[in-house]
Amino acid sequence: MPQITFIIFDGSRRTVDVKSGDSVMQAAIKNNVPGIDADCGGACACATCHVYVDQAWVERLAPIGEMEAAMLDFAQVVLPNSRLSCQLEVTEGPEIGPTHPQRRTVLPRCFDSSTT
Ligand code: FES
Repeated sequence: MPQITFIIFDGSRRTVDVKSGDSVMQAAIKNNVPGIDADCGGACACATCHVYVDQAWVERLAPIGEMEAAMLDFAQVVLPNSRLSCQLEVTEGPEIGPTHPQRRTVLPRCFDSSTT
């Protein structure tokens, strides 16, 4: 089962099992990871699921779609590794698939992911 390690704003880490096909946002919500509010429920309409993706994984993500890019314009402190976690689908393979981690808050958030 794929796993994702979330790095929370206080620097602590939480590694969670993720069902293939779930989004990174869903994994965070199901596991009570703080900081990902997901106000729109994953409709790419709020940017409260903004995350910073670990650099080791940035190149493995599907490209940002138009809707995600437009919504990231409303997020604070957007960095090159910013993504909307609701638009990142977790797969069984070594890649994080498309459709596809920030948030309105300024606190940094990162994740890395691995599959087992
Ligand atoms: S949950 Fe609203 S944009 Fe991701």
